[in-house]
Amino acid sequence: MPENQEPPANSAPPAVNRRWMIASVPGELVSQDNFRWVESPIPSPSSGQVLVRNLWLSLDPTQVLAMAESSPTGEVVPASGVLRAQAVAQVVDSRREGFRAGQIVHGFFGWEDYTVTDGSGFLPMTPVPSGVAPNLAAGTFGLTGMAAYFGVLDVGKPQAGETFLVSGAAGGVGSIAGQIAKIHGLRVIGVTGGKEKCEWLLREARFDAAIDHRSEDVGSRISALCPDGIDIFFDNVGGGILDEALARLRPNGRVVLCGGTSRYLANDLPPGPKNYLNLVMVNGRMEGLLARDYAGRFPEARATMAEWIRSGQLRSLEDVVVGLENAPSALARLFSGANRGKQLLKIADPSEALVA
Ligand SMILES: NC(=O)c1ccc[n+]([C@@H]2O[C@H](COP(=O)([O-])OP(=O)(O)OC[C@H]3O[C@@H](n4cnc5c(N)ncnc54)[C@H](OP(=O)(O)O)[C@@H]3O)[C@@H](O)[C@H]2O)c1
Repeated sequence: MPENQEPPANSAPPAVNRRWMIASVPGELVSQDNFRWVESPIPSPSSGQVLVRNLWLSLDPTQVLAMAESSPTGEVVPASGVLRAQAVAQVVDSRREGFRAGQIVHGFFGWEDYTVTDGSGFLPMTPVPSGVAPNLAAGTFGLTGMAAYFGVLDVGKPQAGETFLVSGAAGGVGSIAGQIAKIHGLRVIGVTGGKEKCEWLLREARFDAAIDHRSEDVGSRISALCPDGIDIFFDNVGGGILDEALARLRPNGRVVLCGGTSRYLANDLPPGPKNYLNLVMVNGRMEGLLARDYAGRFPEARATMAEWIRSGQLRSLEDVVVGLENAPSALARLFSGANRGKQLLKIADPSEALVA
């Protein structure tokens, strides 16, 4: 099925488990050749487990890192099994206390129609509150929005009137991070790839300015737009853009390290940022964050963001590809820069028949 085309509305649940298994480690790009399509029987849950049907998958750049592992001899080899993913799913059969058939849940499942899980692991399974749309739960209310929220507020510690620069600005995390900074009264500038994405950033995410890293000299554009320097740099990409931002930090400037998409497919890692010593000169701070470590505060973040969405201050910008068969091409979009907003994959709508 072509991308971005809705499947038949009343399509029946698949009678087999369609799965994308990891076949090879991606090179410079991700492609369908890195995966193998397998159809196997629908698994059954044992005591303490649930069977879920995956409805929405979150596509995240770090998924390519999970496709490789080291063999006992130290060789890089393809990881075994199905690619795991942050997902929103519907419980089909529960043998686990606290979960029931029909319930919509958020957790770490896989690129497949059905997953059996005990709900523990990287992202513990939690019910999606009623009234929250599955796509919102998978994206802006998932790790994407949580990284933006806690990265801006807890690590960045924004003050009204400051200047905020974000890389990967037109992506899932970047578009939310910039909007949160704007809500707090900062001037927001985004770095993204291409003229059209710069226009999208100003129009849809309502940033103050945008820099095109494909056609413009990022350093001189930052200098022109921020003659007094940057107070907060929120980095999703790493590499040369991080270096240019480090050189232009204001006194007491902060660098929020959220991700390094430019490194994930790089065979040879670039040398470390040469301008890091500027942190000494400006008494600056560079700090990483891992969104899942804030899990105890996710309800607070989601409640605040829900209010911003209701009041129109925050837009949850999504880029939806439809159909499990298109999962590899959806992941590839993150590395070609095709996505605008959070890249999601829709597999199915919830089934009313499962709700008691
Ligand atoms: N710390 C955490 O807990 C946490 C949680 C979630 C995500 N993250 C990280 O946050 C970052 C953003 O994730 P996301 O899901 O929102 O992805 P995203 O930003 O929506 O998608 C990736 C974007 O990265 C840019 N890009 C790709 N290759 C690039 C390269 N070589 N150089 C420069 N830019 C490149 C492209 O945008 P352009 O077209 O604009 O170049 C692409 O659209 C990722 O690094 C991810 O790992 C961290």
